[in-house]
Amino acid sequence: MEKTTPLLVAVALLLVGVLPPRAACEDSDPSPTPWPLRFHAKLLMDYRGNLSLADLWYDWPGGLNLHIIRYQLAADAPFYDAEWNNGTSFFYTPARRSCRSAAVGVGILPPNWLVAGSVYLGRRAIDGFDCHVWAKADFITYYEDVHTKRPVKWVFYSGRTSHVMSFEEGAVLEDAERQAPDYCFSKGDAASDNSLISESTVDHD
Ligand SMILES: *[C@@H]1O[C@H](CO)[C@@H](O)[C@H](O)[C@H]1NC(C)=O
Ligand SMILES: *[C@@H]1O[C@H](CO)[C@@H](O)[C@H](O)[C@H]1NC(C)=O
Repeated sequence: MEKTTPLLVAVALLLVGVLPPRAACEDSDPSPTPWPLRFHAKLLMDYRGNLSLADLWYDWPGGLNLHIIRYQLAADAPFYDAEWNNGTSFFYTPARRSCRSAAVGVGILPPNWLVAGSVYLGRRAIDGFDCHVWAKADFITYYEDVHTKRPVKWVFYSGRTSHVMSFEEGAVLEDAERQAPDYCFSKGDAASDNSLISESTVDHD
């Protein structure tokens, strides 16, 4: 016993010396990582069993948030959902040369959109990844990989769910692919109208 006491004291001192700095390093209320200014993500999306694959091209300096969506087995895929920061959105299907535009009235999400007003919900294993989880009221639940800081999944309160399959920082879509096609602008085209935006096509409001 006499021999173990100094050892215990040594261990106790070691713990006292080691634990406080370690505890300080563990962030109990981490902040979500802002999005890069530009990225390309491949998403597996699920809306109440309706599945789709989407390329998301986010370009904050270019003022564009573009989803190119392929619904499961859709003969007319892809469908484009292009949101511009000036508040105009275009929804078009090249295979049918159909286009609809909408004055949404708000711009796209800024890179730090999640930082303010989100609530940290803790850590959870999601899609097999160790994630931090945040919720932003009446809008979204967002899962970010603890180690890589990349988004893993997000769920809009409408039920629209996206799993992030790849995340390419800095990628930019070439110009020709970014612009809405001419049939979105031809006046009097029966296929285009300026009807108000509907929840079925847009998540962000
Ligand atoms: C999924 O939803 C899209 C958009 O509303 C629709 O065009 C598509 O037909 C749906 N897919 C199925 C299998 O119902
Ligand atoms: C918003 O920007 C897009 C892309 O440049 C353009 O096609 C659209 O006409 C603009 N809308 C308005 C209202 O200026």
